[in-house]
Amino acid sequence: MNDPEAARGYHRLTMHDPSGLRPNDPRLVRDYQPLRWDRKPPQFKTYPGLEAILLPDDISLIPGGGLGVGLLSRLLFLSAGVVRTADLAGEKVYFRAAGSAGNLSPVEVYVVTGDMAGLDAGVYHYEPVEHALVRLGDAPAETPPALVLTGVPWRTAWKYRERGFRHLYWDAGTMLAQTLALAEEAGLVARVELGFVDHVVAALVGADGVHEVALAVVPLTGASTTLPDPDEVTVGHLADDPLEFPLVTLAQRAGDLATDEDVEGWRRAAAPLGTPRGSSDAPSLRRPLDEVIRGRGSCRQFDPRRTAPGELLGGAMAWATRAVPGDFVADGATLLDHYLTVHAVEGVEPGAYRWRSGELEQLRTGQVRDVAAHLCLDQALGGNGAYTAFHCAPLDDVLGALGSRGYRAAQLEAGIVEGRLHLFAYDRGLGATGLTFYDREVARFFASEADPMLVTAVGAPDYAPVPGGLPRRPLHLRRN
Ligand SMILES: Cc1cc2nc3c(=O)[nH]c(=O)nc-3n(C[C@H](O)[C@H](O)[C@H](O)COP(=O)(O)O)c2cc1C
Repeated sequence: MNDPEAARGYHRLTMHDPSGLRPNDPRLVRDYQPLRWDRKPPQFKTYPGLEAILLPDDISLIPGGGLGVGLLSRLLFLSAGVVRTADLAGEKVYFRAAGSAGNLSPVEVYVVTGDMAGLDAGVYHYEPVEHALVRLGDAPAETPPALVLTGVPWRTAWKYRERGFRHLYWDAGTMLAQTLALAEEAGLVARVELGFVDHVVAALVGADGVHEVALAVVPLTGASTTLPDPDEVTVGHLADDPLEFPLVTLAQRAGDLATDEDVEGWRRAAAPLGTPRGSSDAPSLRRPLDEVIRGRGSCRQFDPRRTAPGELLGGAMAWATRAVPGDFVADGATLLDHYLTVHAVEGVEPGAYRWRSGELEQLRTGQVRDVAAHLCLDQALGGNGAYTAFHCAPLDDVLGALGSRGYRAAQLEAGIVEGRLHLFAYDRGLGATGLTFYDREVARFFASEADPMLVTAVGAPDYAPVPGGLPRRPLHLRRN
């Protein structure tokens, strides 16, 4: 259990390489044809026949309101709700409040709670389209409220094959960046807990542990939570013919914790881990968070002629790398190092940099737009923004201390930083996008010991984004 070699092997086997060749390894599915439209997984989990409890459609923040169904509605909608729809090749496609690679959104959200104002105790599934909850089972009246995030590998592996396992944690991270900010704004402390007994959490929400796996538990009360024991829960529908990628199952399973003692041991190992994030003060967001989140969309085209204000780098990085309250790293510390290619930022010479402990350290000077675009899987977006941040983790150290479960933590923290950079950029009227990358080339270019986990490009968009809609009234985009 929790053997670090499994995550190391997974990571190596799912690296992108410019040659386009995949490793010849029996653990990879060889004859799979990605993006077969006749096999496209549904975007959402469904519970046919179960009654939907509509959440309030007023998602405004009521100052001093406390955690009741109103605030829960705001947290859920602005973390995981549907804000836009579009027609693509005759099919309705839903876009969610948080970014997700390929818009595949493989993360499901459950609420486990005791009685709260406006909502009875229970285990609930969040329905993003209807902005509703369906009640799956019971929970004791005194259960502290928590979210449980699960990942559906097939939904993202349909396009990204085995690399989709990384996406589960990236996309949970972008979502949690929003949840954490919304909780903080409302005076709550949401914690990101990765130490839990996997089969217990999976059973609590009706996940089978293969086609749907537990990703994170997020208590909303500031304290670490003890979830209730699993009871009878209704099991939903994920897809008609989900394909299992054995390497994904292996990578997740290798990190599983089986007992409460395992959880305690894992948390003890995490408690001293990480590098201090430094003392640089982070500026605040200036606009209401609901406006920022509804205005967020991944930038599809940056304007390379525009130079970003210096705050978009120093301020955004300081804000995005604030400590994540949780159990996977020491308090106030981070598992990540960030390497940057700077292209057009006021007061910062173009070149390659490292961001560590709140300081920007120059590694080399000169314009590197072309290199940056190449590193990001030869995507122009990687080079035409103001800067591109490569979120890296010293995997040997992380896996050495935390076993294969540490891989989940490093990927998730990278997703959170990515999501926060988005929020900061949109707050300041600029844009950002998540990007994938050639793993070894990134490490080689920055001469870094750390492995890239995820990339964010930040800059001035080439167009004015349209804000998303409200619960049950998403903005409709015409795409064809
Ligand atoms: C983790 C992550 C990785 C992404 N990788 C890429 C990428 O490599 N190339 C790209 O063009 N967009 C990428 N995106 C952007 C998504 O395609 C975009 O978030 C998705 O289509 C949803 O659109 P929205 O963010 O505007 O809501 C990524 C987004 C995330 C969150």
